[in-house]
This record gives sequence, structure tokens and C-alpha cells, in this order.
Amino acid sequence: MKIAIIGYGGVGKAFLKLVLEKTESLLNEGILPKVCYVISSKGGVYDPDGIDIEKFIEFTKSNKDITHYPCGGSSIISFDTLLHKRDVDFVIEMTPTNKETGEPGMTHIVKSLENGFNVITANKGPVMLAYKKLRDIALRNNVQLGIGCTTGGALPTINSGVVDMAGSEIKSIEGVLNGTTNFILNEMETYGVEYNQALKKAQELGIAESDPTLDVEGWDTATKLLILTNVLMDEEKTLDEIKIEGITNIKVIDIKKAAREGKKYKLIGKTIKTDNGIQMSVKLECIESNNPLYGVNGKNKAVKYTSDTLGDLTIIGGASGVKPAAASILRDLINIHRGYKYIR
Ligand code: HSE
Repeated sequence: MKIAIIGYGGVGKAFLKLVLEKTESLLNEGILPKVCYVISSKGGVYDPDGIDIEKFIEFTKSNKDITHYPCGGSSIISFDTLLHKRDVDFVIEMTPTNKETGEPGMTHIVKSLENGFNVITANKGPVMLAYKKLRDIALRNNVQLGIGCTTGGALPTINSGVVDMAGSEIKSIEGVLNGTTNFILNEMETYGVEYNQALKKAQELGIAESDPTLDVEGWDTATKLLILTNVLMDEEKTLDEIKIEGITNIKVIDIKKAAREGKKYKLIGKTIKTDNGIQMSVKLECIESNNPLYGVNGKNKAVKYTSDTLGDLTIIGGASGVKPAAASILRDLINIHRGYKYIR
């Protein structure tokens, strides 16, 4: 299996390490992974026989610029090289989310699908802006598009919604969909630290977005909620239809007061289907201990679906982090290899 990695940030690095760590179990799945491209904004590395991952990781420990890698690194290697050579099975798109245009990820995904490569993406922008378009391109080209990483990474939101709620109508989607904000609220409650200090720790742990306002102002939650809504409710909603509030105004004193009353603050994304249409919101809620989202601790997240025929389903876990995010990409890759059709 020949793989191209586009975008080499924290998740990209974690993905390469994971491929190395899981080589044996991948072989047991019948997958011999060969990462032939690692492409960054400055250029890339290309080896048609598969980059020596161990050597490459060692090199990047002391050298930030991958184009200087002696075995195939060059500033002239780009996404166009890949389109020209067309020598991969999977493209893994991990460039940063742009919620206005989706670029450069949008172009990478569209062109990869059109060229017959399966795509797995960690990039929420293109999926949030154009899921149906991307799905149709994948269908026309008989390839798969894995988006599990975009809606909570290790937390199985999309997969559980598509597979385990099949045949039912999902009436509402509710969740703690952002690990950074849940972690911050948890730190404030447990250690009495103020918001800024807790955010700093989340950044040090690598769970916050490179622009952490996306987390703390609720955008990341809204983006995930939007993707889940559009995919699971077959909608074409946009971000501006969601009422979004973040956690930036919360104080330890508010959290302690809630705790004394047996309650917890959670940043909750919610989509509810009513007779008057769909309502979507992201806001800080003070919830009681009988709410299933009350027990979502630390970097963990959760999603709750209510449905007409399959009842309610709540899944808790899937802590945020670069390794779990990388593992969610590997999960989609293995499932596609096994023949599972996310796009049908
Ligand atoms: N920053 C996100 C989170 C991880 O804290 O959950 C990527 O979605």
C-alpha cells in the first residue's frame, strides 16, 4: 500500500511513528505500508520504494526542514509531483483547517479523489464546507473518503452514527466535542488554576489547535457538530447557522460554585431536529450529575445521539491528542483496506 502524507505537523509526525509501531499488526491485516511522499509547504520527500521511516524520524529530530533530508528530500517535491506520478493508493491530507475556503486541503482532496486515490483527512475545513461535493467526487471515481479524524479523532462519532444508527432517524446530536476546553474546565475545577494557565497546559500537551481561539471560542466544537449534522442528517448547513459561544469568560469561582451544587460546566455542541427545522448551538452549559455528559473527564470527549427507533446512544472517551488523532486516521485506513465503504 503506497501512501502520501500531505502536511507534516504534530498529527503527521505521530502518524509516521504509529505506522512504524504498528508495522506487525498492519502486516497481519495484509497491509505492507510504504510511505512514498511526505509533503510540507516548503517541499517534500519522495521515495517510490517507501521512505525509511525510522531514519526519517531520526533526521527530523534535529532538522526541521524536511526538504534537506538526504534520501529524497527536495524543495521541488510538491502535491503536483504526486499528481504527475500518480503512484499512490492513499493520500492522507493533514494540512491545517481553513474554515473560510478549506484551502489548500480542498484542492488536495478534490484532485486526489479525481485521480483515483483514496483519501483520509484530518482537515475539517473541506469536509465542513463541501462534504456532499467531496462524497460525489469519491463515488464517481470509485474511491473512499475517511473523515473520522475530523469529528473527534479517537471518539467514534461518525462511524457510530453511520454504522450503529443505520436505519434510524437521528433526532438530535449532542456532545462534548472538544478535548482542549474540557481539559481546561477540568483543570480549573480540580486545581483551582485560572483559565489562561490551564490553556497553556493544554497547548503544551499538544491538544489545542495551533490557533487555540478555535478551541476556546467554540469554533472547533461547531465545526465538528456541523460535519456530524451534515453527514448524519443529510443536511447542507453552514457554520454561520450555528449560535457559537466559547469558554473564555468562565472563572474558577463559577466552576467552584457549580461544584458545590453538584454540577459541572461543559462546552456542549447540540443539534436538534424540530418540526420547525434544525437548531444548532455551541455553548457552555452547567449540567447536573444525572446528565451522561457530566462524567466526561480530562481530555476526553463524548457524543450522544437520540433516534426514533434505536433509542439513545452515548459514547464517552476518545481523548484528544496527536497520537489518538493519528490512530483514528490509521483506523479509517485499515477499515477502507478491509473493504468498508464510508462512501456508498
Ligand atoms: N483541538 C482539538 C481538541 C483536537 O481539543 O479536541 C482536534 O480536533
